[in-house]
Amino acid sequence: MERTLVLVKPDAVEKGYTGAILARLEATGAKLVAAKMLQIPKALAEKHYEAHKAKPFFPSVVGFITSGPVVAAVFEGQDVVAKVRKAMGATNPANAEPGTIRKDFAESIERNAVHGSDSPDSAMVEVALYFKPEEIVSY
Ligand code: CMP
Repeated sequence: MERTLVLVKPDAVEKGYTGAILARLEATGAKLVAAKMLQIPKALAEKHYEAHKAKPFFPSVVGFITSGPVVAAVFEGQDVVAKVRKAMGATNPANAEPGTIRKDFAESIERNAVHGSDSPDSAMVEVALYFKPEEIVSY
């Protein structure tokens, strides 16, 4: 079954939106199979955002994602990567559709409330960065 990694980012945790964001994702029919709160170490953030290493925003995005606690979660289900991305909305909240998480909870392209894996392949890599196999439940 397909899985995806979700991070409720420091801006949304700080503002108390964690529950609302997880509820929106559960409402898509995706199944929550793992969750934890953590402050991401710099080395983990650099690995997570490795694909963006050459981009000008790389240092800033690493700085932001490590700036406060996040809630990391794994959702599971058919087409869950696409379902979660649809519920999140566009990366830049200015372009996000009404009713999406980023439209309703994000501040800016960097402080954009939530991360979701962008493909089933990157989801497998990202889930393994944040969770040991035994931390993911089946029910
Ligand atoms: P995320 O889905 O976590 O993946 C990469 C992140 O880089 C993205 O969300 C944005 O929060 C952040 N970011 C910052 N600036 C930009 C930018 N100019 N274009 C794309 N992503 C950006």
